[in-house]
Amino acid sequence: MSVKPVRKAVLPVAGFGTRVLPATKSVPKEMLTVVDRPALQYVVDEALAAGITHIVFVTGRNKGAIEDYFDRAFELEVTLDAKRKTAILDELMQTVPKAGSVSFVRQQSPLGLGHAIWCARDIIGDEPFAILLPDVLIKSEQSCLAQMMEAYDRVGGNIIAVDAVPEDKISSYGVIAPDESAAKDGRLTKMTGMVEKPAAEDAPSNLKITGRYILQPEIMALLRDQEAGAGGEIQLTDAMARMMGSQSFHAFEYAGQDYDCGSKAGYFEAVAAYAIDHPSIGDEAREIMRGLLDK
Ligand code: G1P
Repeated sequence: MSVKPVRKAVLPVAGFGTRVLPATKSVPKEMLTVVDRPALQYVVDEALAAGITHIVFVTGRNKGAIEDYFDRAFELEVTLDAKRKTAILDELMQTVPKAGSVSFVRQQSPLGLGHAIWCARDIIGDEPFAILLPDVLIKSEQSCLAQMMEAYDRVGGNIIAVDAVPEDKISSYGVIAPDESAAKDGRLTKMTGMVEKPAAEDAPSNLKITGRYILQPEIMALLRDQEAGAGGEIQLTDAMARMMGSQSFHAFEYAGQDYDCGSKAGYFEAVAAYAIDHPSIGDEAREIMRGLLDK
């Protein structure tokens, strides 16, 4: 199937991070450290590994640290160079994107995820694009978005990453309705609907929307006049549900484990999971954790 390639990704980073206050009072939640780099770096790496060549950050007030992080740091670079700390300097330079390959747009009011995505419309133009929600880290052998891109090359349309979620957590997520009459195609399932944050008894399945999407640009027109939904916010899920009438949507069950860094327990779990698999401190981290549990 010949499909228009996905080159751009939108990363909404305007949220307050209320679930991990006070840590996020003056530090953007996306900049909280997971072992040795900000959580956001993992998500950017996932996008780049999938072939994304332009990243649009939708930011808000007090998020300046994110712009600084993805820029050169001359004083630091000169100092490290003078001290011949070349390995650290090399690592530092890897965080700097190619000139012109990132954009920042501001979401001036916190009106919801759907509104945040709509703020990127002029940069997205009429191309299909990816969305990665940076609260969610997905640890996998092959980048989750790269897995989705392979599926997209086959079936096109719109693809949403999903994963099974326990019943007591279901009301925290968008939930999809799989098309029970259609045969599964590997990790892909056709969808008949989706709903944002349903009560467990009303949920159409146990498959939550995980925070990775490949969408067609027509979603922007739907977001423009999308009314507020769950939580009084303009929801991406509601606009996608409307677009299902005219476009194909597949749910994609990726290979990998997701961690919700927007919550205290999820953030802790992410740090622990990345620490025990870290090339230089992994063994030590395992021992530390065993020691702590034995106490
Ligand atoms: C957002 C989406 C929701 C999705 C979730 C994944 O919700 O609206 O559909 O399941 O991210 O983390 P939020 O966590 O912003 O409330």
